[in-house]
Amino acid sequence: MKLEITPCKARLGAEVRGINLSHPLTTDARTAIETAIAEHAVLVFRNQPLSQDAQVALARSFGPLDLGLKRVKKTASRFRYDELLDISNVGVDGEIAARDTRRIVGNLANQLWHSDSSFQNPAARYSLLSAITVAPSGGDTEFCDLRAAWDALPEDWKRDVEGRDAVHYALHSRFMLGDTDYNEAQRAELPPVTWPLVRTHPDSGRKLLFVGAHACEVSGMTLAEGRMLLMDLLEHATQREFVYVHKWQPGDLVMWDNRSTLHRGRRYDLSVRREMRRTTTLDVDGSHDDADDVTNAARSPQLA
Ligand code: OGA
Ligand code: MN
Repeated sequence: MKLEITPCKARLGAEVRGINLSHPLTTDARTAIETAIAEHAVLVFRNQPLSQDAQVALARSFGPLDLGLKRVKKTASRFRYDELLDISNVGVDGEIAARDTRRIVGNLANQLWHSDSSFQNPAARYSLLSAITVAPSGGDTEFCDLRAAWDALPEDWKRDVEGRDAVHYALHSRFMLGDTDYNEAQRAELPPVTWPLVRTHPDSGRKLLFVGAHACEVSGMTLAEGRMLLMDLLEHATQREFVYVHKWQPGDLVMWDNRSTLHRGRRYDLSVRREMRRTTTLDVDGSHDDADDVTNAARSPQLA
């Protein structure tokens, strides 16, 4: 088996052919995918409809899985695994959710540029998003390359940001969208974490500018000055020349590296069904399962 990797026209992203992701990954295939994503940051696999079991097994071959916000609060799910995140505008009853529900706020928060789970430590490494039902119009997902953003940053900006940290907080984006109805205990459940604004991507050795919607304060700056800097940096990082726009087809599986990219969903008609399923690995080291473990793990779902 030889993976066929075709870079997208954009500055990041590549389409990968020559593999069936429903089958357990061989070590060679896993390594080839990791090598490709280290360079291209976003990998697109077309025509790969995955069962719940297959998607969880696939993701687990890249490391232990993130539970997202379910880590602190178990919510009812339509799926058989806690690790399968329901990225849709559909409620647990299978009906399209009312516009004023928190599920829809979560959908809308995904339309802000972000890196998955940057508000926790460990944060996310890879996300794998599988398209079930796509919106008839709108609903693209956009990705930007934070390494290209660093490379293109003017020298005086580089001096301003190097050595500074940003605070990332899970509820910051919710507050921004007016979803503020959380008590003290809920606000404290996901304490803020701090990441350097300038990081080195371990798999490519390239420097990158780590910003996004969860970042809300900058070390050594007033709140106002830090927020303006974060907005400026985000505007820089998300210029069109750094962006790949993914137009979804049912059965697409898109995998991205949250350490080197930001992404956002694009607006769509919330009264029309859009359904995706996400699995995400944690950014921890030395955690590859071998193929047997993967299969066993997929056979023991945590939710009935
Ligand atoms: C996600 C996400 C955007 C989209 O699944 O992590 O941000 O387009 N999705 O659904
Ligand atoms: Mn996301």
